[in-house]
This record gives sequence, structure tokens and C-alpha cells, in this order.
Amino acid sequence: MLSRRKFLAASGALGAAGIGSLVAPNAMSNLLTPKLNYVLNAQQSKWHFGGKIKSPADIFSYQKNTQTPIIYMQQGEQFSCLLKNQLPEPTTIHWHGIRLANAMDGVPFLTQDPVYPGDEFLYQFTPKDAGTYFHHSHFNSLTQLNRGLAGMIIVKEKQQPDFDQDIALNLCDWRLNADGSFQELLIPKKAARAGTFGNLHTTNWQVEPEFIAKPNSLVRVRILVSDVTRIFKLTVNGAKAKILAIDGNPIDEIRDMQREWIGPGMRMDIVILTPDEGQSVEIVNSSTNKPWPVASILSKGQSQKRQWGDLKPLPKNPIEPLDLQGAEIHRFNFSAGLGVQEDLGINCAASEYIFWAINKTSIGHLDPMSPTLRPTAALKLNKTYIFEFANVTPQTHPIHLHGFFFRVLESNRRTIIPHWADTALVKPDETIRVAFKANVLGNWLMHCHILEHQKTGMTGFINVS
Ligand code: C2O
Ligand code: CU
Repeated sequence: MLSRRKFLAASGALGAAGIGSLVAPNAMSNLLTPKLNYVLNAQQSKWHFGGKIKSPADIFSYQKNTQTPIIYMQQGEQFSCLLKNQLPEPTTIHWHGIRLANAMDGVPFLTQDPVYPGDEFLYQFTPKDAGTYFHHSHFNSLTQLNRGLAGMIIVKEKQQPDFDQDIALNLCDWRLNADGSFQELLIPKKAARAGTFGNLHTTNWQVEPEFIAKPNSLVRVRILVSDVTRIFKLTVNGAKAKILAIDGNPIDEIRDMQREWIGPGMRMDIVILTPDEGQSVEIVNSSTNKPWPVASILSKGQSQKRQWGDLKPLPKNPIEPLDLQGAEIHRFNFSAGLGVQEDLGINCAASEYIFWAINKTSIGHLDPMSPTLRPTAALKLNKTYIFEFANVTPQTHPIHLHGFFFRVLESNRRTIIPHWADTALVKPDETIRVAFKANVLGNWLMHCHILEHQKTGMTGFINVS
């Protein structure tokens, strides 16, 4: 049965999701309220995860002692966010998946200066696309994401789609000791393999939260993997679910959800038709041999009498068509590193370890002063490119390209239904092809979103001129 504590915890995670002075209108209903102006104070904070963690953990947060924030934007309307850095170290914010001007992309040394302690930075842009996105620090990322500087972005559609409820799930494992202190975040032996997994599984920073929805209703569930290591394999038990969107973009044809792999940085929007009163639905991760429910939804209240026939597809995002015929092909080999790091950093988060490389180059840190700093690929504005991501390692890598949606076209090893994405899972010995139009100028990072891999060499960038 549902305990009141669990229920309040779960609904609070969303209801109180507006941050700063922003409060959602109804804490119990998960109503989404777009707010266009934020002030985020990056600071040291405390969060009590409970369960096996006995004391509050020393986390980083954008607002004191609150849960992971959701940032709301409105498609086609200007958004602004003043980042104030009250941390003892520099930081920035990256708007993962949002298409914007390069100067707003939040990559220190590549698109902006780091925001030093005591400084502030104004991010301002107009999101073209609706959907589910991801905001996170991009400075000393492994540490700052692990400590909490990461959360969901919801860009509301121009025309509100017709769902009975909207539930956001931010999946993250924490690397904590029982006393609330953080464990080692980079264990070399593990960084050279799949990465270091967290030991406390949370959704919206809570252990197995339980939500309530009306029976026989259509519930949109937004899933974000903000964890920096784990690739989840999700199923829905107790009801049928369909996939609506991947990485913010509605898929061409809504299809049944099966067992879906979702890696760090990736998102999936699904819709669940909730069961009859009193029954519940579980969203389960089975990426390990001990599956666990990441969240559950209990049907309670008055039946909404919905049917699958009531479901309408989401409006498409305005992505420019590709010119695949004339596309130039660039190949990227994701491989083990050669033990040499280019441009080892002078002032931030470079690792002393190098385990990974893109096209034989290992960048763990970008040094803008370096005479040898050069893009992994130099592209021309408005041309369509096909990128071949070739994984020649025994690990799976979620490869993220900043600033663009690419069309995931095909794989040499499995059937891929073509779709738009900003992060793609490339499995061991797999080569996938993605295509995109290089229609915004600038230097755009491209890296593995398993952050230990990123930090130990699997980073590059493209230049569009
Ligand atoms: Cu979400 Cu450079 O990443
Ligand atoms: Cu990787």
C-alpha cells in the first residue's frame, strides 16, 4: 500500500520543482508551469537521501536544501537564467540537447570562460524545440554531476498536448558511504571499463518514489538518465506503455515500449495507460541481474475512461531536412587511449589517467592556449554530414554531440529505427551512422557521456565555420 510519506515525497519532487521564487501551482498534481527567468545559485548544500544513508550528504545544488530542480522553458519563447557561482570552484551550465547559439552552450574554455567563484553568467536563448532535456554543469563534470548539479529541462510545447498527467523521472545513482560522504568517483580500473557505478539508486533523488495517477488515464512519463555511468534497461510492468519521443524529439511512429536501453544523457518520453483503481504500474530497471523498480504509479481516484485511441502524437520539432545525397562522411573511432593526453590541463579537471580516445586523440581537458588544439572534424556551415561512430572497444558508449540533433540512421549490427537524437548508444564492435546538418557556427563538443570515459580521453569537438 501507499504510504503517505512516500506519496508526499514523490509528488513533492515534482510539485516543488520550480526553483528560486518559482512554485508550481499545485504540489500534488505535477502540473507544469513554465518559468522563463531563473536565478540559479550553485552552492554547497545538504540532502538527506535516507534509507541506508544515515546522514545528510554534502551535495552541490542550485538552491539550498532542495531536490533536483526541473527547469521549465516554453518553446519559441526567450528563456534566461542567471547562474551565480557560490561554490568554491568554477562551474558552468550546459543545456544538453537544446539547440542554441554556441556562446550559450556552457563548455568552459571552448564556448565561454569558466564562471569563477563569486562570478555570474547570464544564459539567454529561445528554445526552438519542445520536449525533455537535461541541464548540468560542464566544469569538473564528473564531480559536479555526481554531487548534484544536474537535472531535467522540460520545454513545453506551443500547444499543450492532451495528457491527464505529466510525470518526470530523473534517474541517478549516488556514490555514497553510509555516513553521507562521497566515495571515490573515479576508480582507474573501472574508468577503463564500464565506469564506477553508484550504490544508491534514486529517482528524483528519492528511493523508489511512488506516484499517484487517475485510473484509466493517459500519463506522460519523461525519463532522463542523469547518472554519469549506468546504462539503464527499462521496462514497464502492470500496464502497456508506448514510446512518444527520444531525446526530446517525437519519433516518427509511436510504438510499444519493450525493453529499452537508455544511457547517460539520454531521455525517453513514454505514455502509460494506467490500470484500474488500486492497481499499480512499475517502471523497472533490469540492466543488472538484480532488477529494481525506479518508480511506481498507483491508480487512484476517478477513472478517466481513456483508451489508446485517444492518444495523439506529439507535434514534431522544426528540424531542417538533411541532404543525405551530398553528405560527406566522417569516421570516428572510439577506442582505448594510447596513454598520452593532448593538452593536459593547466587549471581544471583533467585526469592523470588516459584510457580512451577518439581517432587516436585523447582529450580530457581543453586548453584554449594550446597551439595544438584542433577540432576532431572541421565542417562547413549548412552542409549535411554523416558521422560514422565506430566503437572498437568492449564497452558501450553513449556518444553525445552538443548543439545538434542527428538522425540515427543505421547500425552494422542491429536494426535501428531511424530517429532524431543528441546522444547515441554505440555498442561494442558496433558502427552506427548518424547524419546532421551543420547549421550553427562554432565549436561543439562531442564526447562519451559516461563521464569517466569523457574525462580520461573520450572527448573531441567539431568546428563549424
Ligand atoms: Cu550532457 Cu557535454 O554533455
Ligand atoms: Cu564511453
